[in-house]
Amino acid sequence: MSFRVSACLTRGVDLGIVCAMKVLIPTFFAGIYGGMVWAAPSAPVQTSPSVIPQPVRYETQVGEAGFSLAQGIKVHYKVSRSAEGAAAIRALMSAGILHVLPEENEGELTVTVEPGHGKEWYAIHVTPQQIYLRVSELNALYLAAQTLAQSITEDETGAPALPCMQVEDEPMLSYRGLMLDPCRHPLSIEQTKKMLRIMARYKLNRFHWHLTDDQGWRIEIKKYPKLTEVGSRRDSTPLLTNHEKNDNTPTGPFFYTQDEIRDVVAYANSLGITVIPEIEIPGHASACIAAYPELGNSDIESYAPRVATTWGVLPFTMAPKEETFRFIEEVMAEVLPLFPKADMVHIGGDEAPREQWQQSPFAQAYMKQHGLKNAGQIQHHFTHRVAEMLAPHGRRIIGWDEIMMDGEVPPTAVVMAWRSWVKPDAALTAANRGHDVILSPDSHFYFNFAQGKIPADPAYTPHGWVEAKQDWRHVYSYNPLPAHYTAEQRKRIIGLQANCWSESIQNSSKLEYQVVPRICALAEVAWRPAELRNADEFLQRIKAEYPWFKQMNINFRHEDGSPAAPESMPR
Ligand code: ACM
Repeated sequence: MSFRVSACLTRGVDLGIVCAMKVLIPTFFAGIYGGMVWAAPSAPVQTSPSVIPQPVRYETQVGEAGFSLAQGIKVHYKVSRSAEGAAAIRALMSAGILHVLPEENEGELTVTVEPGHGKEWYAIHVTPQQIYLRVSELNALYLAAQTLAQSITEDETGAPALPCMQVEDEPMLSYRGLMLDPCRHPLSIEQTKKMLRIMARYKLNRFHWHLTDDQGWRIEIKKYPKLTEVGSRRDSTPLLTNHEKNDNTPTGPFFYTQDEIRDVVAYANSLGITVIPEIEIPGHASACIAAYPELGNSDIESYAPRVATTWGVLPFTMAPKEETFRFIEEVMAEVLPLFPKADMVHIGGDEAPREQWQQSPFAQAYMKQHGLKNAGQIQHHFTHRVAEMLAPHGRRIIGWDEIMMDGEVPPTAVVMAWRSWVKPDAALTAANRGHDVILSPDSHFYFNFAQGKIPADPAYTPHGWVEAKQDWRHVYSYNPLPAHYTAEQRKRIIGLQANCWSESIQNSSKLEYQVVPRICALAEVAWRPAELRNADEFLQRIKAEYPWFKQMNINFRHEDGSPAAPESMPR
């Protein structure tokens, strides 16, 4: 399939008809259209842009005329009505290449869908007259568009231009994610969208949205209104500087309506990002159980569930009642349609304490009835039940690596391996059991952790996680596919993800400080083999991003640890 998004100096020529769908190789296109339309070349381009993550092949011609963007690129309306044309236009607009288009523009873009490459493969060829894009699938247009966006430079007159270039590229790992946690501290829709724009620039393609936890339930479920009426408020919050004390200030209600969720999901899709929702089962469930106490182990002594006002691991787990399984099914019935592109749904599964199941006569009877050897196997039952619920909808489950405790989980389950200190072998264990694995080690990819023990780093707080020094260099040093992994194990490592828990992240400015530029390092670790990376060279490319960070008003972390906007940081 090929088509052009075009503009022409010769007004009146109906290029939309000329460029109707054809299957042609791009060089043939160059021969045909090079003579038919002519776009003004730029003046010589002076500098070679840099790109994060570094493409597999990226060659630019400096000192020569490039493709002028002084007038933008005009898109013919007939082309824009084709599905492929619309996809290309969306990708280019989302990357900021196309803006509202004035009438008399110049420049031409040709797109070819060329199956037979890896899923996210794309190639770019820029000449002074044309931009040729070849992609293995339409979604790869988003990747190509971001490479183009990062390649925009100036010609010697100061006008925007792309240098002539040849790019061929595809990622090493297919799942490249970031997790955000609006449960501990709220994150507005606008702030969430800003993070999505940052993710898209660096070609991350999965936004893992942690929507439920002990300290708040954040997604509207119409059948269970108390989840948000009760579960999205809390009485107080631990202080940033001392988690043992709290602020005595109620928060909430804070939750996303289903319309807001749809809006974010559509926005993410428009950037080439799929949103993966997380509904925590069976632990991290205090807020859920505070709303509907009967879903918990209500027969234990002094049972008084409430939305948590402290951090850490809390005892409230769901009870293995049919009523609870029905609740999960009904919640999922509302969740799944909100995330139509999510081939995976995260069911949590981390840090689910066994103590309430050990105390609960009902849970004990359940164990006897099902011949369970220990209370941990109750979690295992939850995992299987939910996997079975989701499978007919074409969704696989993802679980934190604790889902592997106490028994086999369905082979289709994806394991998110995070406990690098407690369970350093979790990823390989999962791979050896035949699970797809997403690497999310807390030793490297916990973006809530401090980036250095220097007073200038406002993430430095005198407790807990401060010993972690996970600056971008540390993230960058990670090798997801060490040489000793077998081919089969490598195949199972489908991607990686950074997690940004929000106990210590009270506002979006702090969030940006924690994420940028670490996200750049994460993106390149996912894209490029470790042996091809060099941190000192990468630093130069990070610095080349500073103007974009500033343009985006991002409170990024400078090399010396100082935030770009210190006044906006919470204290
Ligand atoms: C986790 O950090 N509890 C997944």
